[in-house]
Amino acid sequence: MNRTDATADPGGAERAWRGIAETSVLLDGFHAIKHALRFGASVPLALTSDRAAVLALADELAPDVRDALDALLVRVPDERLRALVPRLHPTAVAALAVRPSRAANLEALARTPRTAPVVVLDDPRNLGNAGAVIRLAAGFGATGVVTTGTLDPWHPTVVRGGAGLHFATAVERMDVAELPHGPVFALDAEGEDIRSLKLPDDAVLAFGSERSGLSERLRARADHLVSLPMRPQVSSYNLATSVGMALFHWSAGRPPGPGA
Ligand SMILES: C[S@@+](CC[C@H](N)C(=O)[O-])C[C@H]1O[C@@H](n2cnc3c(N)ncnc32)[C@H](O)[C@@H]1O
Repeated sequence: MNRTDATADPGGAERAWRGIAETSVLLDGFHAIKHALRFGASVPLALTSDRAAVLALADELAPDVRDALDALLVRVPDERLRALVPRLHPTAVAALAVRPSRAANLEALARTPRTAPVVVLDDPRNLGNAGAVIRLAAGFGATGVVTTGTLDPWHPTVVRGGAGLHFATAVERMDVAELPHGPVFALDAEGEDIRSLKLPDDAVLAFGSERSGLSERLRARADHLVSLPMRPQVSSYNLATSVGMALFHWSAGRPPGPGA
């Protein structure tokens, strides 16, 4: 699609949206678009019914992406925008981004030396949890988030939960047999207390399914079984909360400073 044509012609932008929506990543709302632009996503199209309000938000919250948004935004009438994006975000803006190639993500996950862990979600079931984990991984500067099983980590609900931060870390689905190199620390309530361990930068931090915990295949790959402190009689923590605690423990072993 020619972006200049779309900018000049809302009808053209709508047709272009329909043409690429199926194969693109929907960025739903200002914050998702802001994050995607900051972390280098290719965003060919952004539509809004209130251009002035979106640019005012950028002035206030994200001046670093204001010019990019200004060049990208196409105004379309509200009802036409809602026909393209039925659950339009209250900020009245949506964009389409190009999904990074699997090859690029696999390369990022395999790169050595690794300076931050990879998070593995072993057969996760809850799309909201997966999105929250991607947001955590991005915040801590993790190398990537790998999922095993059938959940698509690029499902629109996961992308919504991740607030556009899929572009700040490498997100891919893989088989347990293909996991990135590095010592596997598998999180399980029966494991060794995490407080007695230092997690290395090349750690692969694996977490079990919300329903049934770690699979046998993942357990067989684990070098260490690690537990989070938890009072007796409490069965387990929420998956995303567990990832947050483990990443915090990893980061606490590093010198403080900007960036994770
Ligand atoms: C909701 S829990 C799974 C509970 C599941 N019923 C089970 O049998 O393990 C999801 C994942 O979070 C992690 N997790 C939750 N609580 C934990 C704890 N106290 N210590 C270590 N990992 C924990 C584990 O990786 C677990 O597989």
